[in-house]
Amino acid sequence: MDISGKVAVVTGAGQGLGLAYAKALARAGAAVVVNDVNDETAGKAVAEITAAGGRAVAEVVPVGTTSAAEQLVHRALDSYGRLDVMVTNAGVLRDRVLWNMTDDDFDTVVQVHLRGTFTCVREAARHFRAQGEGGRVILAGSPAGQRGNFGQTNYAAAKAGIVAMARTWSMELAKAGVTVNAVIPNAATAMTETIPFLAPYVERMAQGLPVPSVVRRAASFGTPEDVAGLVVYLASDASAGITGQAIGIGGDRLSLWSHPTEIRSAFLDGGWSADAIAEAFSSSVGEQLETYGIPVPALPEPQPQEA
Ligand SMILES: NC(=O)c1ccc[n+]([C@@H]2O[C@H](COP(=O)([O-])OP(=O)(O)OC[C@H]3O[C@@H](n4cnc5c(N)ncnc54)[C@H](O)[C@@H]3O)[C@@H](O)[C@H]2O)c1
Repeated sequence: MDISGKVAVVTGAGQGLGLAYAKALARAGAAVVVNDVNDETAGKAVAEITAAGGRAVAEVVPVGTTSAAEQLVHRALDSYGRLDVMVTNAGVLRDRVLWNMTDDDFDTVVQVHLRGTFTCVREAARHFRAQGEGGRVILAGSPAGQRGNFGQTNYAAAKAGIVAMARTWSMELAKAGVTVNAVIPNAATAMTETIPFLAPYVERMAQGLPVPSVVRRAASFGTPEDVAGLVVYLASDASAGITGQAIGIGGDRLSLWSHPTEIRSAFLDGGWSADAIAEAFSSSVGEQLETYGIPVPALPEPQPQEA
């Protein structure tokens, strides 16, 4: 995949998935603005990319505000003269069950994920429209946003909102030739290392050991590098026409998420009273209720001799 000549911004690119995206985009020929709040990791990412022959600059600012978004787009234009790809990946967690979640827990997560995505993409969209050469917007969703997840009121809400924005923006930006897609990733990073059923596999990966194929398939779980190919594809000309989608990737698995849609309907002349709904619900639209929550696959215990 060759995306030489393109310029990308990747938010939260100092470590984890963002770092893998920035490196993969640079390897494929793009110049990258590496954003993070952490100047050390952002600087290290730039050093690694440039040492490998790539082009990158760091822009250290917390995303979530209009001024941060402007700063990132300006940096791309000042350093490389154009912008083609906006990857909104920066993220934080403040997990707590609903009744213990503080306003600050809620607002912090919404600020970074939802407002960070909104402000960065709005700034990029203004630029793409003015540049007149199309563009690529790649957002970060999550299984938690698609399905709901215990302890993640703030995060699930923000991530579901991000996918809703992808569908909205794919319509609004179609005429400008800009595609907008959400990646639903799964990978061993600082963010996932504490998830109990994945912890043994994260440990294996940290030791440089591969995880069994069943984990890479059933749990869709692998390294950040396993996810980066999708971001490069979505950044490239090869993905023209792919827009408004939520695309899952992790380990050995690539998947397409469905969009919410009405799956069953019932009709009653004159409309539905509460009594009429109570009488008909279980035998009509509610005959088979939808599931919720992220399914946890049954995985084997990792064996020490497994290679
Ligand atoms: N790892 C997974 O399996 C997984 C699953 C679903 C979704 N995601 C999403 O992927 C993205 C990356 O996650 P990760 O697992 O690499 O996490 P991570 O914690 O390893 O990395 C997140 C990065 O974002 C940076 N960051 C935090 N707040 C920021 C801000 N305001 N401005 C700029 N940078 C900021 C952090 O410093 C860090 O470098 C997140 O949006 C996350 O929600 C990850």
